[in-house]
Amino acid sequence: MAAPLTSNLLLLLLLFLAYGGANASPWDRWERTIRMPTEKEEVDGGDDDDQKVGTRWAVLVAGSSGFGNYRHQADVCHAYQLLKKGGLKDENIVVFMYDDIATNVLNPRPGIIINHPQGEDVYAGVPKDYTGEHVTAQNLYAVLLGNKTAVNGGSGKVVDSKPNDRIFVYYSDHGGPGVLGMPNLPFVYAMDFIEVLKKKHAAKGYKEMVIYVEACESGSIFEGIMPKDLNIYVTTASNAQESSFGTYCPGMQPAPPPEYMTCLGDLYSVAWMEDSETHNLKRETIDQQYQTVKERTSNPNNLNTGSHVMEYGNSSIKAERLYLYQGFDPASVNLPPYNGRHEMKSMDTINQRDADIFFLWQMYRKFEDGTNERAQILQEIRETVAHRAHLDGSIRVIGFLLFGPGKGSNVLDNVRAPGLPLVDDWECLKSMVRVLESHCGSLTQYGMKHLRAIANICNRGVSEASMREASMAACNGGSYGMWHPSNKGYSA
Ligand SMILES: *[C@@H]1O[C@H](CO)[C@@H](O)[C@H](O)[C@H]1NC(C)=O
Ligand SMILES: *[C@@H]1O[C@H](CO)[C@@H](O)[C@H](O)[C@H]1NC(C)=O
Repeated sequence: MAAPLTSNLLLLLLLFLAYGGANASPWDRWERTIRMPTEKEEVDGGDDDDQKVGTRWAVLVAGSSGFGNYRHQADVCHAYQLLKKGGLKDENIVVFMYDDIATNVLNPRPGIIINHPQGEDVYAGVPKDYTGEHVTAQNLYAVLLGNKTAVNGGSGKVVDSKPNDRIFVYYSDHGGPGVLGMPNLPFVYAMDFIEVLKKKHAAKGYKEMVIYVEACESGSIFEGIMPKDLNIYVTTASNAQESSFGTYCPGMQPAPPPEYMTCLGDLYSVAWMEDSETHNLKRETIDQQYQTVKERTSNPNNLNTGSHVMEYGNSSIKAERLYLYQGFDPASVNLPPYNGRHEMKSMDTINQRDADIFFLWQMYRKFEDGTNERAQILQEIRETVAHRAHLDGSIRVIGFLLFGPGKGSNVLDNVRAPGLPLVDDWECLKSMVRVLESHCGSLTQYGMKHLRAIANICNRGVSEASMREASMAACNGGSYGMWHPSNKGYSA
């Protein structure tokens, strides 16, 4: 009687081997069958589902403007499409984007935005909640807090969430130590953002929240200041002291279609979205996505072209399934929950801070020698490079004046141990930024990187008066023309 049993086992083994390589093996199906009771309530979706898991809300933020920053708005539009397919409703998705890409004269496909070289349009249907001058830090805080009276302009849509709801926040742009960029100044300062999260928690405005942030030094927004008891789980594209990276850039691999002069996406952002689109989010956990994105964003282990994805807040939340935040697309039901090691091709990337000059250079090369446009772009490149050099040099001189010739650089470049915040006094950081900008010109997207030096000046207890003296000495007489803060305001 032993023989038939053995041959049955053999048959099973053969079946397993035959199907083992396919994405949805018979074991997945079998497993689903016995999990039927819970599956059913998940698969049905609709109102019944909503009552059990609460409402899903999302806040999507592209913090930049300009065609050279195409990729940030492309990321955010893509995220909207993903959540929409997942069943989130427009009334529950708030989008911040400058909205100057689709209709930009430089856009080779008018009215269309793509986020992948072979990607479909991700622009159609994106709600224009906060666009142009209304993409501000103040509006972001008001929207998160669900405070309609504090909103200025835009659609007025806010996260009017209940204690049982879940909120997904995704941000993509340039950043610097302690700050996230906004197309209208001031920047988002880490401590202000965390205060908003604390208020939302105190107001019992959600059950749990997941936040994904793509920006340079994005870890510094949370390092040492993100509480673990707010029921919020955060991942960031980079640690507190490194760049994040644009990808799908002209002349690189994978390359955008040849008519594009700008990068189409960012490495961490496309990593999470392309992961979400190829898996069954009712079965994949947040942690599985974190692991995959971490590996892909390290480009695999080439950290000159990739970054360290970090996590903050309450990490118990990551055991949950992704659909609780990103929704579930019924068409994905047969996709795997997680393939572990899927193909990790290395991707060419560009450091966020070099991307703007790289873009200007692409434009420059596109125009014929001797044209007006070419001369203008060359002039813009020269001025951008000169202002960068001016900022870099001025900060060095300020460090030297404040701390002495031998110590200046050590103090300014000091990176605090992991677990410590960038700065102890966040209001000091803001007022020192204003002092510096009034004497040395706007920090700009590029100059955000000097926030660590300014934070260290605060950490050493330098007074505002000394900072003013040093800034005047380092920068007085410098002409900063278009970079005078009277043009666009202060970044703090
Ligand atoms: C909403 O914002 C307004 C204006 O900034 C403020 O006066 C009010 O206290 C806020 N409401 C709540 C509930 O925080
Ligand atoms: C973290 O989240 C889990 C799951 O929601 C919860 O049980 C736990 O109390 C939270 N931890 C803290 C410190 O709030």
